[in-house]
Amino acid sequence: MRVLSGIQPSGKLHIGNFFGAMRQHLQLQAEHDSFYFIADYHALTSNPQPDEIAGHTLGVAMDYIALGLDTEKTVFWRQSDVPEVTELTWLLSCVTPMGLLQRCTSFKDKVSQGLSPNHGLFAYPVLQAADILIYNSELVPVGADQKQHIEVTRDIAIRFNNAYGEVFAVPKEHIIESVAIVPGVDGRKMSKSYGNTIEIFEPEKSVNKKIMKIVTDSTPVEDPKDPDKCNVFALLRLVASPEESGEWENKYRNGSMGYGEAKKRLAELMLDYFKPFRQKRTELENNINYVKEVLASGAERAKAVAGETLEKARQAVGLRK
Ligand code: ADP
Ligand code: TRP
Repeated sequence: MRVLSGIQPSGKLHIGNFFGAMRQHLQLQAEHDSFYFIADYHALTSNPQPDEIAGHTLGVAMDYIALGLDTEKTVFWRQSDVPEVTELTWLLSCVTPMGLLQRCTSFKDKVSQGLSPNHGLFAYPVLQAADILIYNSELVPVGADQKQHIEVTRDIAIRFNNAYGEVFAVPKEHIIESVAIVPGVDGRKMSKSYGNTIEIFEPEKSVNKKIMKIVTDSTPVEDPKDPDKCNVFALLRLVASPEESGEWENKYRNGSMGYGEAKKRLAELMLDYFKPFRQKRTELENNINYVKEVLASGAERAKAVAGETLEKARQAVGLRK
């Protein structure tokens, strides 16, 4: 099955991105024909500084490769290296009703967070639909926040096919069950836009410091605590073995355990979890050319597929008759 997903290079990747998206991408690549890309056109919708976007793109590429992306098997590229997708966006835009985009909640959410309501931000689900359809994707693993965009994609594909013939495969499944929302150090959803993240590859010292500052309630050490309401436990269960998570759950409920103790263990487990990948990440930083080569060869493979689909779509709408 063709699996496709994208991630925006809008900052350094964090634990929430890993457990909510990247881990599933990496797991799926063994069994499926995987296409993963860095969505730099999408990142432009929030108007980053020009030198930020290239840096973050390489950062995301290094993170994925260090964490186990199979550079031989998986097609991995930078979205803007295959500009065919922007032409398809236009063809799709012309069958996309305004109402469909007006119903998308992510536009309203982002504007309420302070992003400028530019046309790119509004039309972003159409670019996402083009990403998915141009590569004939069947399965699109994304977090719950992206579910609506996959539904929009299906809707656009069906409208296009009804108008012009069966050009696009309609992606059949959309959501991969992911872990619950990963909380940030302040207890809100971990997100680059809230400044509450623990980055996957941030220096060990700084990981320790951030974990010690995670917000908890003020239940006294000796009292029972509810693990399901604790940000420390929410992170701990991601990196601890099931047995150890169970032990901590009991300790919380029985009392006589302080949050400081849980935080200390969380820091150890978190650093151990990512330790095997840190060395690889450092090697890649010293070999940026290799990273660029991986992206360039991925772009070539992606372009071959995109070119073919785009040509079919052009023919279908009458641009080539
Ligand atoms: P951010 O909120 O930091 O800007 P993105 O919106 O770029 O993150 O998210 C990229 C992917 O990571 C999405 O698939 C999203 O569902 C997932 N993701 C981001 N933050 C979290 C989180 N706190 N918990 C679970 N998944 C997350
Ligand atoms: N919009 C997605 C996000 O912000 C990124 C993305 C762009 C994407 N194109 C995609 C995800 C196509 C899946 C498929 O996380």
